[in-house]
Amino acid sequence: MLNVNYKYKNEIDFDISQVIKNENYYTFICGDSLEILQEIPDESINCVVTSPPYWNLREYDVATDSNVIGNELDYLDYVKSLTKIFDEIKRILTKDGSLWLNLGDKYYNKELLGMPWRVALSMMDNGWILRNDVIWDQMKGTQSSKDRLRDVYEHIFHFVKSKKYYYAHDEIRIAPVRKAKMYNGEIVSATGVSGKKYRKQIEESTALSDVEKQEASKALDEILNDLTEGKLVDFRMTIRGEQRAFHSNNTNISGRAKELETKGFYFIKMGANGHLPSDIWRIAPEDTWRKDAHYAVFPEELLVNPVKATCPENGIVLDPFSGTGSTVITAVKLGRRGIGIDLSEYYTNLAKQRIKQIGKTLF
Ligand SMILES: C[S@@+](CC[C@H](N)C(=O)[O-])C[C@H]1O[C@@H](n2cnc3c(N)ncnc32)[C@H](O)[C@@H]1O
Repeated sequence: MLNVNYKYKNEIDFDISQVIKNENYYTFICGDSLEILQEIPDESINCVVTSPPYWNLREYDVATDSNVIGNELDYLDYVKSLTKIFDEIKRILTKDGSLWLNLGDKYYNKELLGMPWRVALSMMDNGWILRNDVIWDQMKGTQSSKDRLRDVYEHIFHFVKSKKYYYAHDEIRIAPVRKAKMYNGEIVSATGVSGKKYRKQIEESTALSDVEKQEASKALDEILNDLTEGKLVDFRMTIRGEQRAFHSNNTNISGRAKELETKGFYFIKMGANGHLPSDIWRIAPEDTWRKDAHYAVFPEELLVNPVKATCPENGIVLDPFSGTGSTVITAVKLGRRGIGIDLSEYYTNLAKQRIKQIGKTLF
């Protein structure tokens, strides 16, 4: 029985299938996540980004007799409820799909419960593969107690269901700030490396054979050429007898150390297409809607990388706790389709109003 839903089951099926069949960009459905998810076909969703309610906060505008996540009397029941919902998500996610799960912790009887990890471990026990634990540094935190530090972070777990999954890493790379440039007729890397020092070390080396010296010098020429052509912005060279391997000299545990032993040199290169973001995200929480509408609205900045990296263009992003609709709105803005589910009729209507403001028309 869908106790909160203000649509009939066949209308829900129709709305979902319209998005799945590419006949509509998005839908927002008001109802209990677990029940609605059961209406979604196997392996039909590319990406899920979501933030369920915290345990024991009771702050959302939903009918009191409904199945509100977070209102469980025992926190272990909260872990069970969420694990069950994410089992269902695993069923509807494509084989190469991803789930980004934002969870915050909770103090109870003066004790930090470790809720995000309790949920994550329970999900891993049920077959999810954890790829990243992103720390969302919200920069400002509440000081509710004088005998401990301020809390400023939440977790965003990136889960997948199989080891090979869709990950468009080039979509989210951070472009290098500085580039290589010509200086007095010579190419110099972004941090001022010209290769002269390495050349001298190769020539004067007593640890390299003549053949190894030739190979090292040729490889250095190629790297300098890549810098000139803009394929690389920076590099470092490690030469046997001159520099030590980056992490360890032990050839059993370090591939670099092995390369140094067999070839006599190796390079660390920084490509012109930049590096991937780190697993610490410094993003201020959204507070525009907070006063009049919702307690934990996703900032758009937080959603962009998960959507770009793990949902192909025109793929489907789902949020089973969609609140004011931020996930679906960002997904649609980025040329993906979206499905939002929330128990609250008020937030569902708000989400529908918000998405209309971005000007996408229905098919
Ligand atoms: C942390 S908020 C999500 C906020 C959302 N990320 C946004 O940007 O607005 C959690 C939401 O879960 C909803 N909720 C609670 N229990 C639910 C259930 N069983 N099924 C669906 N939604 C539920 C609440 O109404 C609330 O809007």
